[in-house]
Amino acid sequence: MRKQIAAANWKMNLTFQQGEKLLDDILIANIQLSNDCQVIFAVPFPYLIMAKSEIEEEKNYAVAAQNCSDQKPGAYTGEVSVEMLSSIGISHCIIGHSERREYYHETNSILAAKVDRCLEMNITPIFCCGESLKIRESGSQDDFVRLQLEESLFHLGPDSLKKIIIAYEPIWAIGTGKTATTAQAQEMHAFIRSVLSNKYGSEVAESISILYGGSVKANNAKELFSCPDVDGGLVGGASLVASEFIQIIRSLK
Ligand code: PGA
Repeated sequence: MRKQIAAANWKMNLTFQQGEKLLDDILIANIQLSNDCQVIFAVPFPYLIMAKSEIEEEKNYAVAAQNCSDQKPGAYTGEVSVEMLSSIGISHCIIGHSERREYYHETNSILAAKVDRCLEMNITPIFCCGESLKIRESGSQDDFVRLQLEESLFHLGPDSLKKIIIAYEPIWAIGTGKTATTAQAQEMHAFIRSVLSNKYGSEVAESISILYGGSVKANNAKELFSCPDVDGGLVGGASLVASEFIQIIRSLK
């Protein structure tokens, strides 16, 4: 059975000390996760080692980077390679968040290279996709998301694809307080699964966790996660508040 996942995306927030305290405040709740559930903290690069050591004793907790380079180690000032992430035991990496696509011009083909780099080092990509408000209003969200998947993931063989986590994050719902309705989330998640199934077959498609992201909060997580094709969430703002994120973890199926 595919995993149910609550993933925190801190983005470029919190000082080191605030981050450490936030993890302490969440972990003190001592939420025991069954093996089909997972909690992932995607923290800024300078906090990865701290976060790793915080969760060391916890079962089914993991730490993710929020980005990585598409290049092999070398002269790329300011970049972080997957080799570096792997050497400090990082198991997951967010790839293609809409903020990276928009502000740092990451294209589907750059993201395909990042996915490959992660898989080479056995790091699980949390691959983000999702449409803008303009695309949603024009009704072309399905074609847009299908193309994101095709251009960044469809070069993979089935065994590699199975290692990916997908996060559907409609841009119009990120940080806006405007959550997709459960019907909208379920519809897109089922569509993504059907796109995967058409290419890779239903066994592969059914094994992949598809997270919803975009204004997930303590008070809407349970309803969103109850959708049959929503396997948890990628959470920004609400992951910065211990009580909120604890409640979101508790909302996993
Ligand atoms: P949000 O962010 O929960 O603040 O909307 C989600 C994300 O961008 O991953």
